[in-house]
Amino acid sequence: MKNTTVTFKKAKEEKTKLTMLTAYDYSFAKLMDEAGVNSILVGDSVGMVCLGYEDTLPVTMEDMIHHTAAVSRGAANALVVADMPFMSYQTSVYDAVVNAGRLIKEGHAQAVKLEGGFEVTEQIKAIVSASIPVVAHIGLTPQSVNAFGGFKVQGKNQEAAQKLLDEARAVEKAGAFAVVLECVPEKLASKISQELSIPTIGIGAGAGCDGQVLVYQDMLGLFSDFTPKFVKKFANVGEIVGGAFQDYIKEVQEGSFPAKEHTFKMDDEVIDHLY
Ligand code: KIV
Ligand code: NA
Repeated sequence: MKNTTVTFKKAKEEKTKLTMLTAYDYSFAKLMDEAGVNSILVGDSVGMVCLGYEDTLPVTMEDMIHHTAAVSRGAANALVVADMPFMSYQTSVYDAVVNAGRLIKEGHAQAVKLEGGFEVTEQIKAIVSASIPVVAHIGLTPQSVNAFGGFKVQGKNQEAAQKLLDEARAVEKAGAFAVVLECVPEKLASKISQELSIPTIGIGAGAGCDGQVLVYQDMLGLFSDFTPKFVKKFANVGEIVGGAFQDYIKEVQEGSFPAKEHTFKMDDEVIDHLY
């Protein structure tokens, strides 16, 4: 059954956990969809794990549309959420609505996600008014890396914790149907989850959230540039992949691949009559 914003609402009411994973292409979206994940996020993390940038800032609308469309073709049942890239919504409310619309019309996502609290509530309201569901994202918001001066846990002291709780309330009031909490201490994330009537989706925010999200390259051990503390490797696929590549190279070099069963046959006579 297709997951929708109603699925998210029900899960919050019924206290069942929501699952979300990132994907950037058709094949992985299909694997996740068939495994039964509620939602697939086409994260702007695509810039780091697929495109090799150092942070998410260079990612463009064209990048996001390209990857979102691929994921959408593989996601029969998962709710597809597309990230709004840096500078696609910060510049104005108008830009935010236009660019959110492109992710839906050209990327075929069912919802968009954008980073920030108080400073983006007008954008959230306007996008929601255009009938586009919005996921908010507070705590560590990677597009603000230069403003933060690095990636660190958010909301630890009294003032910062209060601000984060107030921001969560503000994005809910603006009309977001869910909110991602990234790198927030477990106790604060639990408190925010209890206070909100929309589901919280945690990443590095503990088990008190209403759902969880991970970057698939991280949880499969496919991305080794760095591994944050909150990542659990559910499989070491990087090792399996590396081993397969080595076997392929060896078998091609020694001539054992391709074998008879991988080759196409034809009558000897045809060859014999070639001149
Ligand atoms: O881009 C991304 O992958 C994200 C998740 C980490 C929530 O925004
Ligand atoms: Na993101």
